[in-house]
Amino acid sequence: MNEPIIECKDLTKTFSSGAEVLRILDHADFMLERENICTILGPSGSGKSTFLAILGSLERFDSGTVRVDGYDLHMVPEKSLSVFRRNVVGFVFQFHFLLNDFTALENVALPGYMAGISRADAWEKATKLLDLVGLENRAHHYPSQLSGGERQRVAIARALINGPTIVLADEPTGNLDAASAEEVRSLLQRLPDVAKTTLVLVTHDSALATIGNTSHLLKGGHFECIK
Ligand SMILES: Nc1ncnc2c1ncn2[C@@H]1O[C@H](COP(=O)(O)OP(=O)(O)OP(=O)(O)O)[C@@H](O)[C@H]1O
Ligand SMILES: [Mg+2]
Repeated sequence: MNEPIIECKDLTKTFSSGAEVLRILDHADFMLERENICTILGPSGSGKSTFLAILGSLERFDSGTVRVDGYDLHMVPEKSLSVFRRNVVGFVFQFHFLLNDFTALENVALPGYMAGISRADAWEKATKLLDLVGLENRAHHYPSQLSGGERQRVAIARALINGPTIVLADEPTGNLDAASAEEVRSLLQRLPDVAKTTLVLVTHDSALATIGNTSHLLKGGHFECIK
């Protein structure tokens, strides 16, 4: 096996709700190689979104180790975590979260300016990314002028603007009709090749679930490798 880009060992995550403690991850292990696609399946409430949030350092964990592209997430100070969130991981959610008052191009470029790229460079990168997701002729459209599948492809382009090594996608086709879901599926499948990213994909969509090189079932706080 090549050096893993994601490696979790003995990972435990609990939530307290009143007197009750919910043990979402219970000494779980997980590993993923670079530039692969891994799908994560599991019943509703099993902790899939929580796990993605931990990998993206949006959520803390109780114990164990989580290494993501060389960052040991328990040890990294908060200041470096913001660099990690901006430059190492890209997020794609079920809802696109595009800003309605900005064009597709501006939506893609914005996290680039926020990371300190010059305006000209961010526009140039955003233009290339819209081309990559097949939306070069929609650059000046506002989200309300795009189809659901197009909006989600803009959101994927936005996730790539700072050159992340990992894309974390949580039910990215959950709000889409079958044809739009197919556009998004074929784009996500190409990401490791065209954007040199590793993709961790949570999905209930059986067609989308087939794109993983590996697949893990999260159940009872553990991952079971099913592919
Ligand atoms: N901040 C929180 N405080 C308390 N409990 C939480 C919190 N966030 C999530 N949970 C609980 O943790 C469990 C796992 O939630 P999570 O959203 O990760 O599940 P999921 O596998 O993504 O489910 P779904 O398939 O429905 O999206 C759920 O029982 C949820 O209610
Ligand atoms: Mg979820």
